[in-house]
Amino acid sequence: MEILNQVQLQPFNTLNLNSIASYYKKIKSDQDIVDAISFAEKHHLNVLVLSGGSNVLLPESIEALVMHMDIQGIQQTAEDETTITLKVGAGQKWHDFVLYTTENHMYGLQNLALIPGFVGASPVQNIGAYGVEAGDFIESVQVYDRIDRQFKSILAKDCRFSYRHSIFKEQPDRYVISHVTFRLLKNADLKIHYGDLKAAVGNDLTAENLQKQVIMIRQSKLPDPKEYANVGSFFKNPVISESEFESLRKLHENMPHYPQANGQVKIAAGWLIEQSGWKGKKLGSVGMFHKQALVLVNYGQAALTDVKATYRAVQADVFKKFNVNLEPEPVLFNTVGQIQSHTR
Ligand code: EPU
Repeated sequence: MEILNQVQLQPFNTLNLNSIASYYKKIKSDQDIVDAISFAEKHHLNVLVLSGGSNVLLPESIEALVMHMDIQGIQQTAEDETTITLKVGAGQKWHDFVLYTTENHMYGLQNLALIPGFVGASPVQNIGAYGVEAGDFIESVQVYDRIDRQFKSILAKDCRFSYRHSIFKEQPDRYVISHVTFRLLKNADLKIHYGDLKAAVGNDLTAENLQKQVIMIRQSKLPDPKEYANVGSFFKNPVISESEFESLRKLHENMPHYPQANGQVKIAAGWLIEQSGWKGKKLGSVGMFHKQALVLVNYGQAALTDVKATYRAVQADVFKKFNVNLEPEPVLFNTVGQIQSHTR
């Protein structure tokens, strides 16, 4: 098995952070997963699973085995009157997969077009946009379970999907995702309740047009990682209690908010950041994007320490003004490849 040493991960993380991995293996098959894990165990190394690198914060050096997921393939596994089931390799590019489904008249994922990253990461934080979450269309997730030492299929109902959350976030060291199985619709059921999208879609109520409009909205607000290094939304939208919300609303009448099914209220982190003066503002070479304040951008050759300095300054200013804690969305790794909490 070919393991590489001292590999630069800068091209493999969309925030463009300089990060050298002591051990690196490209994973192209289920067998590669098993072999890589046994290598790591033999050499007492932690394993860091790297997917599209669009939601990670990497330190300058990582003493661990980086497993870079590259399992490809889209395979139809079932079909009935109303649905088609596809099993997709974890290393498949998410956006290309969404385009493939639309071209082949399989519907559901169109609202999630242009999200960066790979298919294998989609269940981890249950990626979502414009009123749809990946978990809505995932049937099961195929994993290698490092505790039970075997491959398994976990049904969506056991994945504990919720807003930017799943079982894979709860037990990050346990599962290596090899494939994701989606059940898609043969007849589109368009989700266009999200404000801007409804207006953009207009009267052309087709999944193809919906996808096109999602792409246009994203392109108009969100920076292309090829042009501005970023990891999408840098913070989660805070979900607060109704009473906390009511006291905030007394002070800030126009605050965007989204009531949740359980009575809590989701508020817009991008708005809080903008109101705190951070839209388009930089600290050194790291700042919040001028068209969407929720997106942190590495404008130069920033290191993780620079990123931390900026996002902590944003958190502090938002807390001072609104008494609300912003929780970062991307996953932070330490120098031995373990996931770390964002608290100091
Ligand atoms: N807003 C501002 N200023 C800003 C940004 C936003 O006032 O700089 C306000 C907007 O005017 C709007 C509200 O905040 O009233 C929400 O903004 P937007 O619709 O742009 O969405 P978001 O809440 O900022 C979330 C997701 C995005 C997803 C969009 C659309 C999270 C953390 N982010 O952003 O996901 O594309 O909704 O559904 O939930 C991602 O996770 O990387 C991502 C891009």
